[in-house]
Order: sequence, then C-alpha cells, then structure tokens
Amino acid sequence: MAKLAVITLVAVASAYAAKSFFPDLSPFFLSLPLLLLLPFALFSGSGSDTPPGPVSFPIVGNWLQVGNDLNHRNLVDMAKKYGNVFLLRLGARNLVVVSDPKLATEVLHTQGVEFGSRPRNVVWDIFTDNGKDMVFTEYGDHWRKMRRIMTLPFFTNKVVQQYREMWEEEMEILMAARDGKRLRCAMDYILEAEMNGEITSDNVIYIVENINVAAIETTLWSMEWAIAELVNHPNVQQRLRKELWDVLGDEPLTETNLQRLPYLQAVAKETLRLHSPIPLLVPHMNLEEAKLGGYDIPKRTKVIVNAWWLGNNPEWWHKPEEFRPERFLDEEKEVEALVGGKVDFRFLPFGVGRRSCPGIIVALPLLSLIVGKLVKDFEMVTPPGVDKIDVTEKGGQFSLQIVNHSTIAFHPIAP
Ligand code: HEM
Repeated sequence: MAKLAVITLVAVASAYAAKSFFPDLSPFFLSLPLLLLLPFALFSGSGSDTPPGPVSFPIVGNWLQVGNDLNHRNLVDMAKKYGNVFLLRLGARNLVVVSDPKLATEVLHTQGVEFGSRPRNVVWDIFTDNGKDMVFTEYGDHWRKMRRIMTLPFFTNKVVQQYREMWEEEMEILMAARDGKRLRCAMDYILEAEMNGEITSDNVIYIVENINVAAIETTLWSMEWAIAELVNHPNVQQRLRKELWDVLGDEPLTETNLQRLPYLQAVAKETLRLHSPIPLLVPHMNLEEAKLGGYDIPKRTKVIVNAWWLGNNPEWWHKPEEFRPERFLDEEKEVEALVGGKVDFRFLPFGVGRRSCPGIIVALPLLSLIVGKLVKDFEMVTPPGVDKIDVTEKGGQFSLQIVNHSTIAFHPIAP
C-alpha cells in the first residue's frame, strides 16, 4: 500500500512539474507518468502481504536492479536494506531470501515439509532430465526413494568405517588416485536397486552425477580453504600440531580417534563457518502458498537461506571475520556441525532437516582426517617470497571457492 502511495505521489509530482514547464500539454500526456508507473505498483508485491523488497518492474521484475550476481555478500547488503526476509522478482519467479536463524529454523525445520522442495529451472531440468536425480528433485515420493536408496551405500556410519582404511591408505600416499575398488562396492547397491526395478538406469547416472557435484567439489573446496587459513595462521597450525602429537604421539591419525582431538574438530568447523562451501544452501521451494515471518509466500517461490551470513553476522558471533578455531572451544563450545537434533541455527554449513546434506557423515571426518594428517606430518608455509596465501573468495549462488589456487611449501616434521 505504501509503495502504491509513493508511486502515485511520484507520478503526480512529475505531472505537476510537466504542467509548469509545458502549460499547454494535453491531460493525456500529463497523466502519462501515472499510467506508466501504476503497473509497477500493481505488479510489485501487491495483493497479498508478501515480504518487502525493491520495487519490481513488469516482465523483468528486479533483474535490472540486482543483476545476475546473487552471491552471499550482495544478499547481506540487501538484507540490511529490506530485512531478514525479503522478496526479489526475477522475471516471473519469486525469490525469497532468509537471513536470520529463527526464520531459517522455520524454513528448514518447523516448516521443513512445506519448504522442502527444490525450484526447477531449465539448466537443472536438462542436467537432471526433469528431476530424475536427488539433489535437485522436488519433495515427494521420488526424492524419498532416492534418498533411501543412496543412504546405505553412501551415508551411514558403516560407510565411514568401510572407507576408513582406504582413506588412511590414500593419505599415506598423499591423496593419490586409487583403483576405485571400494567405490564399486557403493555402486553395487545402486546397481542392485536398478536391477530390482526400483530405479531406472537414468536414475543411476544422475546419482553418480549428484555425488560428483555435491560430494567431491564441496569437500575439495573446504580442504583448500582449511589449508590456506592454516598457512596464513601459523599459530593455529602450531597449536593443532601440538594437540596431534600430544594426544597421538606415534599413533596414526584415524577416524576413530578424531573424538580425542577437539582442536582439530574446531579447525574444521571454523573453516566451514568462515568459508561455507555452499553459502546459500541448495535453494528450497514451497509447493503451496505458505507463511513465513508473518508474510505470505506465494506458491513455488524459490527460498534461499543465507547460511553463510548466519555464521558470519557480528550480531551473533564475536569478530566473525577472524579465522579463530578457539571460538569453538571457548564462547561457542556448544556449537556442533549437525543436520538434525539439537542444532544451533547460526551454524548450518550442511543445512538442516529433510533436505540437509546426508554426506555430512563422510565429509566432516574426511576433512578433519586430511587436515590433521597434513599438519601432523608437515609444516605448511608460503613459498619463498610470498607473504600470505591469497584467500580472495569467488562467491556464487552455489559455491564459495578460493579465486586463485596457490602453491604451498610442505616441510616434513621430524618425528
Ligand atoms: C564439506 C563438504 C560438504 C558440504 C559443506 C555440503 C553441504 C551441503 C548443503 C548446504 C546441502 C543443501 C542443504 C539444503 O538444501 O538445505 C547439501 C546437500 C546434499 N549433499 Fe552435501 N555437502 C558436503 C559434502 C557432501 C558429500 C561428501 C556428499 C555425498 C557423499 C554430499 C551429498 C549431498 C546430497 C545428496 C545433497 C542433497 C540432499 C537433498 O536434496 O535431499 N554432500 N550439501
């Protein structure tokens, strides 16, 4: 309503100005501003009580104002202007951005079913043949079946145990390529489901594709961030190395003894907080009209949770811009990286609830194991002549990566 009043005021003011410059102008031309601006008012959030946001224009919506670069930092700037839940119109599609832990709880947990779908777009439809995968598929029976079929081979504690030996071997040869024998074991389950007729051969392809995208890249990005920060913070690296040697001595670092290494876990958490590999989670969508923070959310709205901001807002974190794993041992010692149970909604690098990352069970120990192993056996430093590793970020809608890959020098630690 307020928007309509402002627009009418602007239109009347321009008509009045036009009249004083061109007193002979016909009434039609004088009312032209009002006629042109009225549709904007009518198209932008009118009718129901949708969340606030920039004034949107017919057909293009807010494209011209916000452009294509909807990264986590741009969205923070907009949240400061429009609030913790705001609406953008991108062409014909509504996009709601959530930037507050309470509202994130609503979207991901309390109303997890209502907001548990995924938006469709042409690119995903092509890559997933209209949602035959799991990550990008709509909420419903197909998603449930895919998640169930993928759980046993990929997302259980048993898998972590099963792959433990392989990871440990791999780390011994510093992440060299392997024969893939055990990966075939995981794929056996999937192929069995195909033979039983539970899924089609297309689904198998998209499962492999999903694992490729969701699992490998994300884990690699977080490792790269962790290594870069440890090189730039030699005191953190030193403290971590001390913990590793004090607790383990000559004992090798394995998945089972991660529990005894709180500082290592804190380093992993701090890396995922400051450099969340998927800063905006994977977009959610409500299949039906819903309510959020008192506002009406039209059905099939794309809903983005700015998880990075939840973990980096100075209102909720002490000096969030600092890489300081100690925070997870001191003032934030209760905070765990979880996707269910007693979750702190300020820290959601893996999301939470129904569409949360099932790979957390693999990703977290793997990140800690690799970082721990490297730090225990090597001092990681910048190459000669380089002062700091460049940690400039490249943020997109789906990823938060380091712009420039750097070279690191590894000095073996004498046992
Ligand atoms: C550091 C590593 C990783 C991070 C930070 C990460 C983060 C995430 C996030 C934020 C989501 C979306 C949650 C949401 O939409 O609410 C997600 C979904 C998903 N992740 Fe991960 N992930 C990681 C590693 C993995 C691994 C190793 C796997 C597989 C082994 C995996 C498999 C998946 C799948 C299948 C989904 C889609 C779940 C669904 O839509 O129901 N991720 N991940």
